[in-house]
Amino acid sequence: MDNIIETKNLTKRYGTNIAVNGVSLHVKKGGIYGLIGKNGAGKTTLMKLLLGLAQPQQGEIILFGSSDLNKQRIKIGSLIEEPALYKGDTALENLKRFSLLVPASDDELKSLLELVGLADVGNKKVGRYSLGMRQRLAIAVALLGNPELLILDEPINGLDPTGIKEVRDLILELNKKGITFLISSHLLDELGKIATDFGMMADGVIVEEISAKELRDKCRAFFKVTTDDSEKALGVLKAWDPGISAETSGNEVHITSEINDSSEIAAALVNGGVRVYEMRNESIDFEDFFIERLGS
Ligand SMILES: Nc1ncnc2c1ncn2[C@@H]1O[C@H](COP(=O)(O)OP(=O)(O)O)[C@@H](O)[C@H]1O
Ligand SMILES: [Mg+2]
Repeated sequence: MDNIIETKNLTKRYGTNIAVNGVSLHVKKGGIYGLIGKNGAGKTTLMKLLLGLAQPQQGEIILFGSSDLNKQRIKIGSLIEEPALYKGDTALENLKRFSLLVPASDDELKSLLELVGLADVGNKKVGRYSLGMRQRLAIAVALLGNPELLILDEPINGLDPTGIKEVRDLILELNKKGITFLISSHLLDELGKIATDFGMMADGVIVEEISAKELRDKCRAFFKVTTDDSEKALGVLKAWDPGISAETSGNEVHITSEINDSSEIAAALVNGGVRVYEMRNESIDFEDFFIERLGS
């Protein structure tokens, strides 16, 4: 079983509005799958379908390689939309309330608080927590019952930079322990750093699925040299190093082979009679790649 979640042609309509439209999703075991799309793209609805909180009109869901969904859903922890925490209670009391369905000993609950970094504040009222702390507690609630897969809907939404880092670090730590993640976000920044795979969703459709590695290759960096005559510059560079991989783009030369010492490039060009106006590292912007597919 490579895919822990797979859907085929999954479709959910609300009246005439198609929230999820023929989605075929592939979430690999052990990864962190980032579901990226603007508000209204259908991310929450897709997650609800996976969790059995909404019913599709069409399509198929396979969880952990099986179509016996109710049996498989026991292995999934989730956090959809706002976590409903009891603000007048402590973190430990919250976990106890939520663990009624999935019995756990006090020791287990305490080690869960430790895992999400709330052991020291486990007795403080949750109403006095920062948003980041609340979100980590919500993730602890999702972790009750030792799930193999966590489905988190916009877990970083509304957090300040410290909170974002806390939640990100926690996700990475849990992933290292073997938990697979499906995480949605309408902001690329939040997921770009940790996702191993991306699904781009727009108007109910998964526009593209791509691994982080494939994406890195597509957004490969290059060295940009702006000159008075790019054709001449390219000729000079090829004569200087026949193995160089470079091409012209307007008055620029883009070098994609690795460069150890950029001053050597400058010297070669100047010696070849080319004027160099600017040299710097560039990359095809990660964000542009998504905007092209999701619309701005
Ligand atoms: N319970 C519902 N009833 C009617 N329409 C809904 C319901 N839930 C979502 N929708 C509609 O489905 C579309 C996708 O919404 P949603 O899944 O919440 O997107 P996202 O989570 O990406 O913001 C939107 O047009 C939304 O208005
Ligand atoms: Mg949503």
